Amino acid sequence: MQEKLKMLSEQAKAELKEVKDVASLNNFKVKYLGKQGLLTEILRGMRDLPAEQRPVIGALVNQVRQDIENQTAQKQAEFDKMELEKELAKNFIDITEPAKGHEKGALHPLSKVFDLLIDSCVAMGFKVVEGPEVELDYFNFEALNIPKNHPSRDMQDTFFVTDNILLRSQTSSVQARAMQTLKPPFKIISPGRVYRNDSDATHSPVFHQMEGLVIDENISMADLKSMLTVLMRRTFGEQTQIRFRPSFFPFTEPSVEVDVTCPSCHGEGCRLCKGTGFMELLGAGIVNPKVLEENGIDSKKYRGFAFGFGVDRVAMVKNSISDIRSMFKNDIRFLKQMK
Ligand code: DAH
Repeated sequence: MQEKLKMLSEQAKAELKEVKDVASLNNFKVKYLGKQGLLTEILRGMRDLPAEQRPVIGALVNQVRQDIENQTAQKQAEFDKMELEKELAKNFIDITEPAKGHEKGALHPLSKVFDLLIDSCVAMGFKVVEGPEVELDYFNFEALNIPKNHPSRDMQDTFFVTDNILLRSQTSSVQARAMQTLKPPFKIISPGRVYRNDSDATHSPVFHQMEGLVIDENISMADLKSMLTVLMRRTFGEQTQIRFRPSFFPFTEPSVEVDVTCPSCHGEGCRLCKGTGFMELLGAGIVNPKVLEENGIDSKKYRGFAFGFGVDRVAMVKNSISDIRSMFKNDIRFLKQMK
């Protein structure tokens, strides 16, 4: 019996060496350790042994069983490890591989121009003040000396929400709000979105303006001109000249229209400036005393200058964009050209 167990143990060891996969390992377990297995058969044979030999053989059988179990467990662990390694190799991530690279974004041409304009003005001591886009008729028109039914309202084709509420048609609305809330002297700019019922290559129903307002004692046209010269030179280059032409706005008196040396031909005359060498860009003037009084500022003590202009126009000229609407379509091909 002892001999038989020893042989069985040797045989199992040899056979286990040949086991190369999980399926044959399972067959091996059944063959040796299963209910109908070889070890069980030997255990059954113990009935025929003399009583004093039984404990000795029993211990031996347990020993052999333990050995075989240990060896199969070890084999199983080997298979498990191999399986895991196979799985890891399949999902291998090479962290040393060079990155594929990613596309760099860029600022919208309009954001770039706003940044430039705002930075220049802040450097000159202006404070940025914003106002609502859905505005009261009062701030957009009446407080700026444009009463209801006044013909000058026709200069702007306004979107009305109700009789008294509208989408602001000019950032000048913020002038009125600022005068009513700030204590003079002050210098503000107000960049933002405005709306008019107009759409073609040079007009979009949504566009952008930047307003400027300075209130102080002894303000004159000279202050306006020198300040705008600095701003336009920072925007279009140091060789830029500006010129004033008499004009009319209800909120300024006198009013001027401001032309800037054509940024494309630098004054030579080209298609963009229709041969004039200048480009019309801003409206400006000395704040009408009526507007000061309406908004609570003592017009005997204080004066002011104001200006306003289309920022989209600046972005278009600086980037040779011919249709204003292409700036708001967000076509990625257009935006890529602007990088
Ligand atoms: N708000 C005017 C417009 O949209 C532009 C303008 C003209 C603004 C004269 C001003 C100004 O502040 O003084 O056409």
